[in-house]
Amino acid sequence: MDQVSAAPVLFLLSCFLGTVSGLLSKDFSECKEFFYHGIPPQGITGQEYQPICQKFNSTYRFATLYHRNHRVALYSAYKVSLLKKTVEEEWMFEPQLNGEGNDAEMQPLQRSDTFDNQASLQDYIGSIYTKGHLAPKLHQGTTDDKLATYTLTNIVPQREGSNAGKKYRRKKILHWRNVRDYWNNSL
Ligand SMILES: *[C@@H]1O[C@H](CO)[C@@H](O)[C@H](O)[C@H]1NC(C)=O
Repeated sequence: MDQVSAAPVLFLLSCFLGTVSGLLSKDFSECKEFFYHGIPPQGITGQEYQPICQKFNSTYRFATLYHRNHRVALYSAYKVSLLKKTVEEEWMFEPQLNGEGNDAEMQPLQRSDTFDNQASLQDYIGSIYTKGHLAPKLHQGTTDDKLATYTLTNIVPQREGSNAGKKYRRKKILHWRNVRDYWNNSL
């Protein structure tokens, strides 16, 4: 974890945060649909926690609470769906995390890119951690939804061959459509 969370820019971030507005979500209001009853988990506060409505190809695909300083996701909320299909692995990043006015859609990441406030492929190259998806590609019902899970803001460092990723995975918020319908119909 240390390798990935060693963000050298805590000071810079506090300045940066003040200028971000508009594009990044303040409270997931643009993508509430991914939460049970439209209500995101409460009680996690602080400027370092950044709600991201994960947008890919013009559509919100899932929602992530991202920790800017540690450069890891805390949770991703998504609608469970199943489509058996493999997609090509192309990693992406969030331009909007890098500055005001940047694209609000995730974009392809270059191997050489590095960032102050979000993880890059460089954080993982040569590290003992693999990239653990929070919103898993398996649980997505369309090709674009699967492709969208390859943003590094959906990723937590997972120690290969160990259970280190489990405590993060427990925070995964499942949103089963039929569970929601069940509650709506029976309450
Ligand atoms: C974007 O979405 C459109 C409409 O659903 C689809 O036809 C197209 O293939 C998608 N493009 C990419 C790059 O996923």
